[in-house]
Amino acid sequence: MVTRHHVPAATPPDLYGKREQDRAMRVLNRLADGFLAAAPLLYRRRGPADGVVSADLSLTLAARTVEAADQDVVSLVLQAADGAELPAWTPGAHLDVLLPSGRLRQYSLCGDPFERNTYRIAVRRVPDGGGGSIEMHALPVGAHITVRGPRNAFAFTGAGHFGAGESGTGGTSLRFIAGGIGITPILPMVRLADRMGLDWSLIYTGRSAESLPFLGELRALGPRVTVRTDDEGGVPSAAELVGPDPDAAFYCCGPTAMSSALMAAVPPTAEFHSERFSALPVVNGTEFTVELARTGEVLTVPADRTALEVIRERLPDVPYSCQQGFCHTCEVKVLRGEVDHRDRVLTDDQRANGAMLICVSRCGGTLSLDL
Ligand code: FES
Repeated sequence: MVTRHHVPAATPPDLYGKREQDRAMRVLNRLADGFLAAAPLLYRRRGPADGVVSADLSLTLAARTVEAADQDVVSLVLQAADGAELPAWTPGAHLDVLLPSGRLRQYSLCGDPFERNTYRIAVRRVPDGGGGSIEMHALPVGAHITVRGPRNAFAFTGAGHFGAGESGTGGTSLRFIAGGIGITPILPMVRLADRMGLDWSLIYTGRSAESLPFLGELRALGPRVTVRTDDEGGVPSAAELVGPDPDAAFYCCGPTAMSSALMAAVPPTAEFHSERFSALPVVNGTEFTVELARTGEVLTVPADRTALEVIRERLPDVPYSCQQGFCHTCEVKVLRGEVDHRDRVLTDDQRANGAMLICVSRCGGTLSLDL
């Protein structure tokens, strides 16, 4: 009999929406073994692992394809000017894309990690989304684009599949849940699960079939893929999203309402991984104050809001991107005060030198910021 690793229902998701990590790390090692066993067939030379590379790469937009029938999603294929191999990545990874305007945006890699000479990303046009997607849609083939990464904040660690019979492992199926453009990190995971012969299923939701990118690629994977659109069946229930096996390992990317409903519905013992479209909710926050040192203005950050949100009400040009503490865009210098660092990317030296990511980090009293 398989013993499940129990996670209390009250356990909050961590920064990246995962309820547990120790088991996931064990499974990751096993998955990596299987993944890399196939790699020599396709890899002539291994590049650096994703998450390690941070230097800017100057790439060329080699192809642009409309991927949704409503024309709102395009995929962009990027490659080096000389066609050289690009740094390796794993499903769930993203690129930081530095736009010509100076905006920084993150886009999940949605191509094939075994294809080493190109990256593929996809962008949904969001007219009121701050301009980044409009800019991406306007890029012509041949344009030069600067990217950083790849980095992975949504790692695919499989399921208990490889550890059946070991203490702490249980369900062996994978349940993927994607809403709209949330399919981008999920697509390479699905392909890898299928390539490795795992037991998986995908429910792919959205307003209508016209709004869903990559439908043809997904349908080609067969009956494990369920496409469920609001215009035909209404908004799917949490039970539909969970699917037939509540003990599956869940990988979800989509609108916040969908991931929240799903997270509330899966059993507390289930392995749950998600990537959100919006800022993380504040967990265990307390009120604190922020002094904008250049003007002397003092702002109060309520327990349930982030410093970034409050500061942007006064300084709307303060830059930000991921709102999840991994892109560095919102980094500011702390002049005085003790920071409760809640990111996972700043080094000890950076923290000691006063760096703070104001989208997630907080304070118990007052901070003076170089703003
Ligand atoms: S906005 Fe990305 S780290 Fe704060």
